[in-house]
Amino acid sequence: MRLDRFLGNFDHLNRQAVRQHLACGRVRVDGQVTRDGRAEVRTFSRVELDEQLLQDGPGARYYMLHKPVGVVSATTHAEHRTVLDLLDEPAALPLHLAGRLDLNTSGLLLLTNDGHWSRSISAPGSRQPKVYRVDTEIDIDPACVEVFATGLYFAFEDLTTLPAELEILAPRHARLTLYEGRYHQVKRMFGHFQNKVIGLHRERIGSLALDPALAPGQYRTLTPDEVQALGAVGVSLTAAGSR
Ligand code: URA
Repeated sequence: MRLDRFLGNFDHLNRQAVRQHLACGRVRVDGQVTRDGRAEVRTFSRVELDEQLLQDGPGARYYMLHKPVGVVSATTHAEHRTVLDLLDEPAALPLHLAGRLDLNTSGLLLLTNDGHWSRSISAPGSRQPKVYRVDTEIDIDPACVEVFATGLYFAFEDLTTLPAELEILAPRHARLTLYEGRYHQVKRMFGHFQNKVIGLHRERIGSLALDPALAPGQYRTLTPDEVQALGAVGVSLTAAGSR
């Protein structure tokens, strides 16, 4: 809903008052002063007028999970345990994944019930850096560095991958930073050099690193700052579990 309409729904705010409050910078949406009445107010947006809280979005949830190898990035699966099975949260909570990892990939995975936030992270254009540690079957060809930085052609999608940064840490071990998330992207990039990825772990998405206190299978709630930094949108957090 538009912000001006949202404000106008309050009995004590007529149209003129709404315009004035906006113009004077007294209204904040998700912590940001918002003067544009056309700005969007979402179910999970926090809206404040001076110190008065007009809406504290109900029930927004944001988690980081240390995904273990062998667990599927899906909400249901006939054969394997899913990441949702690792969460000790009410079954009714309609959580979904903000991006996926392959069955045999471990590391940082984000779950939420805020579709706007997850889209802003996993949308192809979001350009959030995603950082992986990669183990390969044979020595990494140093030519990978330049080829990955230039971009690789993926015939199936008919596209060239965005420039990626490869740091070779040991003959068969590297850190790779991608700015997009194509299907099996890391494996396909190394596959181009006939090198098989035998271990893959996501360390970071944007400013958010996997919390080293989380063992594989553990998760925790994101802090409001983490949510805001990643989604570039605000959040109203309510108490939520972690373990
Ligand atoms: N690239 C892959 O090949 N697999 C993942 O899980 C993530 C990125």
